[in-house]
Amino acid sequence: MRTAQQLTCSGQRCQRTRLITRSTKRASVIKCVATPVSQPARQKLATDSQEPTDNCRFFVDRDGEMIRIMCCDYGFRAGAGRLYQDKYGEVPDNVLVMAGDNFQHELSALRRSVRFNEYAALEAPPNALARVAGSAGKLLVSGLSRVDSWLEARGLLGQLQPAEVPADVQGEDGQLNEECQEIRAQLRQLKLNDREVWAREERRKKESGDVDAPWFIKAPFWLLCVMLDLCFANRPIQRFWVLETVARIPYFAYISILHLYESLGFWRAGAELRKVHFAEEWNELHHLQIMESLGGDQLWFDRFIAQHAALLYYWVLIVIYLFSPKLAYAFSELVELHAADTYEQFVESNQEALAALPPPLVAAAYYRNEDLYMFDELQTCSGDDAPLRRPPCSSLLDVFNNIRDDEVEHVKTMHACQDTKLIAEQLAGRRKKLAAEGLSSE
Ligand SMILES: [Fe+2]
Ligand SMILES: [Fe+2]
Repeated sequence: MRTAQQLTCSGQRCQRTRLITRSTKRASVIKCVATPVSQPARQKLATDSQEPTDNCRFFVDRDGEMIRIMCCDYGFRAGAGRLYQDKYGEVPDNVLVMAGDNFQHELSALRRSVRFNEYAALEAPPNALARVAGSAGKLLVSGLSRVDSWLEARGLLGQLQPAEVPADVQGEDGQLNEECQEIRAQLRQLKLNDREVWAREERRKKESGDVDAPWFIKAPFWLLCVMLDLCFANRPIQRFWVLETVARIPYFAYISILHLYESLGFWRAGAELRKVHFAEEWNELHHLQIMESLGGDQLWFDRFIAQHAALLYYWVLIVIYLFSPKLAYAFSELVELHAADTYEQFVESNQEALAALPPPLVAAAYYRNEDLYMFDELQTCSGDDAPLRRPPCSSLLDVFNNIRDDEVEHVKTMHACQDTKLIAEQLAGRRKKLAAEGLSSE
């Protein structure tokens, strides 16, 4: 049954009044939008010195609390590319049309990135190997820039224009508005020290042991970590964006194989596992889009690395999963543990700065939405006694704490999946727990 709701605000609290009573606790349609604040609520906020501007929006969460969201969403893909925004939920176009559009979009971005040298603002890498890679990168950028100018001068490529600032973040002078510039500056101050991440991993291994996996599973994992350290030194948000692009790939691969087994009639017992993997992928998608809304996908080079690595990773995992699901899950456990350690280190190193920044809309909509069906499905292996997670999301610090805790959930599930008996027990326990909460998962 669809639910119609009316939003009424008084002071800083808003209430949703149901116009139609629904039959279950869960909405059948997962959709939420940022809700513009009513005039009385806006005046109240202004007197409380929160000074909402016309460009800013507030998200009204399931308890009626207004969450001020980040006004500067400046990822490479916005609008149709972002959940809960314009065109969200539309059906895709013909593949050739989309491929053509994407090629044009990326070609212009590549040309701008070398001609206007978007890489010049990057800080000098902290270690010798990264410095060598950085110098090679500079030579490549300068060479490609000369080739582009040569092709443009001969009319083989169109006249290159600077990128336009999107209307919703534009100031009066047509440039990025002041608030957005301030947020960008604050995001650039966020730090992550690779060595501290490695040290944290070592401490964790000493305390709770290492993942049981052979060298040929650990080797590509180390390669991924070294690539992240090398290419994303001093750029934590970009590093997280790449990590999240890759992190959701295993779930795509596992779902693909489980589908194939069901279609061929080999194996149907994996259907419930497929549901859990979809909830995990949905969770990683939100992590990814949070990083995009913070500007993690701005550089052409970062997108090139992440998206090609993701394609390669998908096919490698397909092959591993075909022959040994246990090994594939061990690999995922390594990646998820690394993600949890990295986020933990990041939160510890940037507590104050993160607490001063508001959350992006996509984060508020995921963690504070009324419908937490997909979020609850993620907590499959949190144990029968653990309470359902209902985390806050009123600052960027909350967002990163939540992401770290999500990664810990992924670790638990990937660990349980390596033991057929254990995951079956966890899934059965999960069904009982949700039924006891009145949130049947069937
Ligand atoms: Fe993630
Ligand atoms: Fe993850």
